[in-house]
Amino acid sequence: MLIVVEHPLCACDLTVVRDRRTDSALFRGAMHRIGMHVCLAATQHLALEPITVSTPLEETTGYKLARRVVAVPILRAGLMFLEPMIHVLPTVEVGFIGLRRDEETLQPTEYYWKVPPLDENASVVVLDPMLATGGSAAWAIERLVAAGARDVTLACAIAAPEGIERIETAFPDVRIVAAALDRQLDEHGFILPGLGDAGDRSFATV
Ligand code: PRP
Repeated sequence: MLIVVEHPLCACDLTVVRDRRTDSALFRGAMHRIGMHVCLAATQHLALEPITVSTPLEETTGYKLARRVVAVPILRAGLMFLEPMIHVLPTVEVGFIGLRRDEETLQPTEYYWKVPPLDENASVVVLDPMLATGGSAAWAIERLVAAGARDVTLACAIAAPEGIERIETAFPDVRIVAAALDRQLDEHGFILPGLGDAGDRSFATV
């Protein structure tokens, strides 16, 4: 299931990150704000448990999350969404997956894995601003499911139709939340119109 976040402020910030003239400081700020919208939408489905709360005046019904939430940024660009996720959900547990996409083969290679224990009582939100071929996200989701994840949401800034199709085919139960659905991939696996390389632009590595 694909959910595209629609918000005028998000549309303006997407324009900032798409603009080739945007430097890394402005890029990070805009990506952070996009992340706030995406992380809110990626946690919209979370189940609640009713609890009793005493206001200064009387008792009433309040709520708490029914399950743990584990956010898993895919390094490096996924780090751009980690702070927004912690802002919207301060108690979130955090895992990390390091993946590098080979520029020739477009295949991901894993170089880091550290994720809290996963089971049916954890909702997992994978953070990666870019869903291109879907190879990195598919790798991460497969590893997370093998580790016990049952409820998985993928939170992106920009998604290409090719990546969406790949994830929807391989993992029909995974929710994909994106701020924009772009047109296609180019011959190098870059999203069009896209924003270039999110990792390099975030960290000024070029
Ligand atoms: C980019 C991007 C995604 C992945 C998307 O990361 O941040 O993780 O590629 O491509 P895919 O859908 O075709 O797998 P990259 O491997 O360039 O690493 P980086 O974040 O460290 O720059």
